[in-house]
Amino acid sequence: MTGLFITLEGGDGTGKSTQSALIGDWYTEQGREVVFTREPGGTDLGTELREIVLHSRGHIAPRAEALLYAADRAHHIATVVRPALERGAVVIQDRYLDSSVAYQGAGRVLDPDEVRGVSMWATEGLVPDVTVVLDLDPAIGRDRLDAANKQFDRLEAEALEFHTRVRDSYLAMAAVEPQRFLVVDATLDRDAIRDAIIARLSELS
Ligand code: TMP
Repeated sequence: MTGLFITLEGGDGTGKSTQSALIGDWYTEQGREVVFTREPGGTDLGTELREIVLHSRGHIAPRAEALLYAADRAHHIATVVRPALERGAVVIQDRYLDSSVAYQGAGRVLDPDEVRGVSMWATEGLVPDVTVVLDLDPAIGRDRLDAANKQFDRLEAEALEFHTRVRDSYLAMAAVEPQRFLVVDATLDRDAIRDAIIARLSELS
């Protein structure tokens, strides 16, 4: 595959969408095809799965939740991401398998290696070239969502302790795989975050 697969991770309210757009502009200026996408919900099937997993009223068992995200991911990678990478595009994706390890593994307290294994099976082992973690104290993230008057989905509505486990999980993953991860302080201003990310992306061929 000749494309580049860049994923953005982190809690809610960390500015992933803003940074995706800025990174996309940088690649577009270089004449690259850029594909913006996200999980869950990067396909028609994924839109339906997203509605179920984020807005279902009843309880969803943690393993069922993990499988719903994995189903979205399997279909999305097979039908959108791999074809884009094969034609040489830069895929900039809001959330990927590290979200499952952080939210379903650390958050719901499932075995993180098993959760990762399910996603690796679902995607036939597709690993991003770079994963940017926008790191933020979950209490600040929550204030940002409150300020934006956002209605909380099933995951956002979880307690701060849940989101603290999610944050710690991202930082632990980044420490184990520094060659793939870039952790950026999400309290920095928009342009400082962008510059830190671009500095890392500039090192890629
Ligand atoms: P977002 O698209 O608005 O970030 O919402 C997606 C929510 O789903 C967010 O709270 C994180 C959560 N999530 C998981 O729990 N596991 C996953 O694998 C993914 C992709 C997202």
